[in-house]
Amino acid sequence: MNDSARDTPVLPVERRLGPYTISDDRARLDLDAIHAYLARSYWSQGISREVVERAIRGSFCIGAYDESGAQVGFARFITDFTTFCYVCDVYVLEEHRGRGLAKAMILLAIEHPRLQGLRRWVLVTRDAHGLYRQVGFTDIAQPAQYMERHDPQVYRRTAQPRPG
Ligand SMILES: CC(C)(COP(=O)(O)OP(=O)(O)OC[C@H]1O[C@@H](n2cnc3c(N)ncnc32)[C@H](O)[C@@H]1OP(=O)(O)O)[C@@H](O)C(=O)NCCC(=O)NCCS
Repeated sequence: MNDSARDTPVLPVERRLGPYTISDDRARLDLDAIHAYLARSYWSQGISREVVERAIRGSFCIGAYDESGAQVGFARFITDFTTFCYVCDVYVLEEHRGRGLAKAMILLAIEHPRLQGLRRWVLVTRDAHGLYRQVGFTDIAQPAQYMERHDPQVYRRTAQPRPG
């Protein structure tokens, strides 16, 4: 997946964590693997492959890869690279959890040269607050100032019926 305006002609930023590699290289992203997880996640159940592809195209992404190169984790960052970043679609496959991969992906983004000087990072999580607190996220100081338009049923409404 390399034909995006988000691509930059620079070497990928990568880190090793034991046998794993954490990387911002778009060419390594495995769309089938990412879609397979997101379609069963609690926040985007039933999301189509096409929507995942378009979302990735418009985002900065980081992946975690095992020794064989298989994608075992993913994090997506919706950003203008200047003022703001929304962190979403963070997952690590069950059998690779508890080894620091999620924290390493978030830290790679927070310390990434293209994401410095931003005024605000935000995210929404059901129960992973402890992870994000470790890398500087806090509860929203003034929730009354935040608003949203949320449509959690959107993928269910727009799902194409399966043939047969
Ligand atoms: C949440 C998730 C991404 C964490 O991945 P992981 O690779 O196992 O997390 P890490 O090993 O990097 O955890 C780093 C630290 O955060 C803590 N942490 C991880 N998940 C946590 C959670 N759900 N709640 C509280 N703390 C958590 C870990 O205990 C660890 O702390 P330590 O360094 O003191 O041991 C993974 O469990 C997952 O994919 N869950 C399902 C999808 C999901 O809920 N995604 C988050 C959506 S916002």
